[in-house]
Amino acid sequence: MAKVLIHKKHTELVDGKIRVISKARQYYVADPTKDFHCSEGLLKKSDLKKSKVKTNKGFEFYIFDATFADRYRRIARGPQTIPLKDIGLIIATTGLNQESKVVDAGAGSGALAIALANIAKEVHTYDINDTHLAIAQENVKKLEIKNCIVKKHDITKSIPEKNVDLVNLDMPEPWLVIPHAIKALKKGAWLVSYSPTIPQVMDFCAAVHKREELFIVKTIELIERYWEIDERRVRPKTEGIGHSGFLTFVRKVW
Ligand SMILES: C[S@@+](CC[C@H](N)C(=O)[O-])C[C@H]1O[C@@H](n2cnc3c(N)ncnc32)[C@H](O)[C@@H]1O
Repeated sequence: MAKVLIHKKHTELVDGKIRVISKARQYYVADPTKDFHCSEGLLKKSDLKKSKVKTNKGFEFYIFDATFADRYRRIARGPQTIPLKDIGLIIATTGLNQESKVVDAGAGSGALAIALANIAKEVHTYDINDTHLAIAQENVKKLEIKNCIVKKHDITKSIPEKNVDLVNLDMPEPWLVIPHAIKALKKGAWLVSYSPTIPQVMDFCAAVHKREELFIVKTIELIERYWEIDERRVRPKTEGIGHSGFLTFVRKVW
């Protein structure tokens, strides 16, 4: 079982001023059957079984078993993956649960498919690119996900699955999938399209508008801003806010 190691920031009061002795650090130990070396010193493999320990240089670490979220952050990345903020919105908006059947394309690195499979009953993820399929397969295996089926399939040709609760699209031409999604989805179920550019959103929405069976609930760009909280220095972090993609949520109503 992989481990997470946390060292908390250590400060001391020197001549009335707070001095940072060591910065906060976090490590992921994939193989705790071996000694672990880091810039704070050495932890023996026997130390990694404990919950609190000091390195040979005297730095204190808290140790616990890695969770799904810790292991998920370590997946291999090929094509651009969908960020956690957008995954959270998909799950919350569609009400995905342990009964849900999901179709996802393209699989890419499998990042979204794996996150959804951690909650849903089953996820079928397709891709047309062999290199991406291999990365997604490897990630599914590494995270020991049993309910995610990765397969080579062009989603613009068909969706073989039926009675689906969510069809999620993260591929260049989502509008080509609309007729197949209508056949695959249950009434009241969700079609979600994730696209990096507005022309893609426009073409997708225009195609959805032509279908009586579908209703556009919303198109959203979720902006995430990190803050620095350090004593009285409390402000947004200086690095820019990156763009990920636009999410369009559609329901099958007929
Ligand atoms: C940006 S990646 C998807 C990333 C994925 N959502 C993730 O979080 O890891 C887009 C993927 O769509 C795949 N793709 C493009 N057209 C496709 C199609 N017609 N059917 C299935 N997959 C397709 C590409 O090969 C590529 O791997």
